[in-house]
Amino acid sequence: MSARTAIVTGGGRGIGAAIARALTARGVAVTVFARTAAELERVVAGGGAALAVAGDVSREADVGRLVEAHERALGPADLLVNNAGVLARGLAEELSPAAFRAVLEVNLTGAFLCARAVIPGMKARRRGRIVNVASISGTIGTEAASAYNASKWGLIGLTKCLAEELRPHAVQCVAVSPGSTDTDLLRATPFAPAMTPEDVARVVVFAALDAPAAITAANLEVYG
Ligand SMILES: NC(=O)c1ccc[n+]([C@@H]2O[C@H](COP(=O)([O-])OP(=O)(O)OC[C@H]3O[C@@H](n4cnc5c(N)ncnc54)[C@H](OP(=O)(O)O)[C@@H]3O)[C@@H](O)[C@H]2O)c1
Repeated sequence: MSARTAIVTGGGRGIGAAIARALTARGVAVTVFARTAAELERVVAGGGAALAVAGDVSREADVGRLVEAHERALGPADLLVNNAGVLARGLAEELSPAAFRAVLEVNLTGAFLCARAVIPGMKARRRGRIVNVASISGTIGTEAASAYNASKWGLIGLTKCLAEELRPHAVQCVAVSPGSTDTDLLRATPFAPAMTPEDVARVVVFAALDAPAAITAANLEVYG
């Protein structure tokens, strides 16, 4: 895939910022998207992305504004990296329904909304790739992580469905599933880091740019 432009959600820090920097280093014009504008601006100021757009992946209007701003500034999106994610920990009976829904809204519905917004253009151009940052938690069970794990199992399912829908249109969809990575999100868990955000970014860049189209529907497990 010779991508000219990319949208990276959750690109303000952690794994998303590393992905933005790695894609930029490969000559891709990147828009980073997250809720905290100051973090996005820092990534752009450091040369890790071309454009910052602040918003929430779970809000359809924000996602529409993101794609519009990206296309206006940088041109059509060849790549979408659905990386934005949140974690809520607690045993099922302790986790509020609102907290459960909030995790699903960001980690799963957010990825669906972003994919939905770029797919028509990718199909029309017969060019594009969507990389979903899932997790080791998307294939296993973990105590006190029902919402997070369910969202990531769902994201891998979404990946495989989109891959089938998009295969006839020369557009690919791939999941990358990291294990414990040294970020703010991991620090809210009892798990020790096994790799850096840059390690994960290298795999995402492979999935996004270097892997052949036959990679579509794969879940690349990077468990450290
Ligand atoms: N760290 C790990 O061990 C690990 C392992 C497997 C998978 N992952 C996955 O990797 C991805 C990145 O996580 P990370 O570890 O880098 O966490 P992080 O450092 O907390 O970064 C998460 C990013 O997502 C953004 N975000 C959160 N909610 C959002 C929303 N509603 N709309 C838009 N952006 C939102 C955050 O920015 P704002 O808060 O400013 O919105 C931030 O930029 C997540 O999908 C996570 O599940 C992480």
